[in-house]
Amino acid sequence: MAPAVAAPLRLHRAGDLALPAPPPLTLYVHLPWCLKKCPYCDFNSHESGGALPQQAYLDALMADLELALPQVWGRRVSSVFIGGGTPSLFEPDAIEQLLAGVRARLPLQPDAEITLEANPGTFERDRFRAYRAAGVTRLSVGVQSFDDDALKAIGRVHDGAQARAAVAEAAEVFDTWNLDLMYALPGQTLDALEADLATALSFAPPHLSIYHLTLEPNTWFATHPPELPDDDLASDMLDLLVERTAGAGLQRYEVSAFARPGHRCVHNLNYWAFGDYLGIGAGAHGKLSFAHRIVREVRWRDPATYMAKALQGQAVSNQNEVDAAALPFEFMLNALRLRDGFPLSLFLERAGLSATALQPGLDEAVARGWLQVEGEGGPASQIIRPTARGFDFLSDVQQLFLKDAPAA
Ligand SMILES: C[S@@+](CC[C@H](N)C(=O)[O-])C[C@H]1O[C@@H](n2cnc3c(N)ncnc32)[C@H](O)[C@@H]1O
Ligand code: SF4
Repeated sequence: MAPAVAAPLRLHRAGDLALPAPPPLTLYVHLPWCLKKCPYCDFNSHESGGALPQQAYLDALMADLELALPQVWGRRVSSVFIGGGTPSLFEPDAIEQLLAGVRARLPLQPDAEITLEANPGTFERDRFRAYRAAGVTRLSVGVQSFDDDALKAIGRVHDGAQARAAVAEAAEVFDTWNLDLMYALPGQTLDALEADLATALSFAPPHLSIYHLTLEPNTWFATHPPELPDDDLASDMLDLLVERTAGAGLQRYEVSAFARPGHRCVHNLNYWAFGDYLGIGAGAHGKLSFAHRIVREVRWRDPATYMAKALQGQAVSNQNEVDAAALPFEFMLNALRLRDGFPLSLFLERAGLSATALQPGLDEAVARGWLQVEGEGGPASQIIRPTARGFDFLSDVQQLFLKDAPAA
């Protein structure tokens, strides 16, 4: 059954929270098609099965964006992230048209980061150059592994040679770019991960994202689970990749993200700092703040439904106001992922609540040796930082900020 469309929220009445100013705003654009669905993937991605309806989808995106504009009136956008799916299935001309349409409707900061996700094996030579000419400033290459057997085991359409060619081209064309890897793959050994890391690092990536492969519900792997490395081996793998990336001058600034100085991902940092994002495209999520409330919304998930609904003026399938009591947990779910921590004052700035709402969880986490509070003189000048142990048990730390968390 189709989800009910919520009645529009009244965004300007008094609410339970008070934001001193709107947070930074970014734009996420979802392009939902792939050549083939990977067996581990629970993202909103659909097999293209032929030519993509590029123009019809771009028209729907622009209709969607125009409908959303009154909610972000007058705010500048600091980054755009074109994600998927496999955005590199879209022609560079289509990406140029998309970015021109975005610029015509939304004020972008002059130095806005504009990322596009690209998959090896989905483009011919020189396509990356054309994306750059279209206005993309940062490419994120979804490599996952350079090992042919591992790539087969996780159902990727590309092989190791195509992965190396894509990364070499990204390095040649872009000043800043990301390489996506996964570890704890079916049958993967420590030596195999070491080889993947050595290959990845040989390209001197300015940014590396490395995710532990997880078995997600509603995927092929959930019902046909492959043999995976056990927890001890996976933990050794994490130690290895932390050591190798540090040795190559990459700082682990977030759980899964490693970057050279000056190359942290502006777009993702805004998620982790509980900033705002407008999400357009099939199944895209958004979070938008107003003076007295924070609203989450999601677009229709099925691409054909989304396109039809967007043109009818109803791109959003669901919208709901975040309960103030849930904000400590929602905020910490993001902010605690940052290795360097965050100023406690960010909670008031982004959640619109006093820092006292965090106090019981903070006291408990400090007592357990999971968080440290730095700086004297009250919340305005304090920094909250996970300890090494806290960073290893992040989900336990985050649970302490649930509204019904057990009292200390
Ligand atoms: C949804 S993909 C989109 C980018 C592109 N289509 C790709 O596959 O590379 C974004 C990233 O999420 C990660 N990812 C997706 N499913 C995952 C899973 N089940 N476990 C861990 N990481 C996953 C992959 O590293 C992937 O690069
Ligand atoms: S290519 Fe990326 S988005 Fe598409 S199915 Fe595979 S992991 Fe998911």
